[in-house]
Amino acid sequence: MASIIFEGKKFDVKSGDSVLATLNEKGKDIKFGCQAGLCQACVMQAIDGDPPAKAQLGLNENQKALNYFLSCQCVLPEEGSLTVGRLGAAQLTQQSKVLEKFWLNSAIIALRLQVPDQDFSYRAGQYATLWKDERVGRSYSIASTDQEGWLEFHIQVHQQGAFSAWAADTLNVGDEISLQGPLGECFYQAEPEQKLLLTAVGTGLAPIYGILKEALRQQHSGGIQLLLGARSSADFYLVETLLAIEKSHENVSIHWLAMDVDAEHDFARSEDIYGFVKNQLGSLTGAKVYLCGAQSFVMKMRKSSFLAGAAMSDISADSFIAFGA
Ligand code: FES
Repeated sequence: MASIIFEGKKFDVKSGDSVLATLNEKGKDIKFGCQAGLCQACVMQAIDGDPPAKAQLGLNENQKALNYFLSCQCVLPEEGSLTVGRLGAAQLTQQSKVLEKFWLNSAIIALRLQVPDQDFSYRAGQYATLWKDERVGRSYSIASTDQEGWLEFHIQVHQQGAFSAWAADTLNVGDEISLQGPLGECFYQAEPEQKLLLTAVGTGLAPIYGILKEALRQQHSGGIQLLLGARSSADFYLVETLLAIEKSHENVSIHWLAMDVDAEHDFARSEDIYGFVKNQLGSLTGAKVYLCGAQSFVMKMRKSSFLAGAAMSDISADSFIAFGA
């Protein structure tokens, strides 16, 4: 049986259980978030022994050199043993300050945060985990480019959301906030003349908006199609900004697709987003595709894009895993 040594005590590990599950079952109160290897809320340090490679996926070289690992992804081999330690907030997070906060529509706020002074080089489309306190953290995509001078996040506000309701109601301009990251591989990396398809639902628009701005900043010359989906056309946000970008760039076209379209949003079409890719979008052969939104959307759209001709290696996805709001 595998074992973990933590704070001087040895714990047996049930077959297939992670370090996180084992320690929390013993009441050790290890922080966690997504439990899917994405948010890095559960990072610990191996003090003696090597964590499996899978438990270090997504960590940077510095973190790997320090033997950090994702405890939710760390399953030891039979008879394996690892001595592990907890990391303090100061080792994982950096301090930032709220520069601006405003509503993008009736349910989504934008937070603009100061870029931390040290070691925070990021690309639009990556994500970071924002912490309300020691226990409550949530991951959000970065909607700003590294030329804009701030980090912008779009937060869907849920009335009972431990993070989002706090961010909407209590967090103020000038307040300090901890953040962890940047994380993820979903950012602009295409040939300048390559076709781009950027597709999002809900606040999946945040990384897509960042990637679009970065592509235009780098003078992307290939056609760029934005495919934005919503249940109701009233849910779309950044509408005027995006329409202005479309108007001023010949190579940008935006398709607004919603199940319900009202008279105020006559630029939108009442159409299923997957049906649109299948029947109207044309071939995606040679295109670079970015997909951002809920996990079910990303999975279905990945398949639709592949069937429309995109190579799997040209499809980058950022799917939101639900783990509280
Ligand atoms: S809880 Fe382990 S990476 Fe999110």
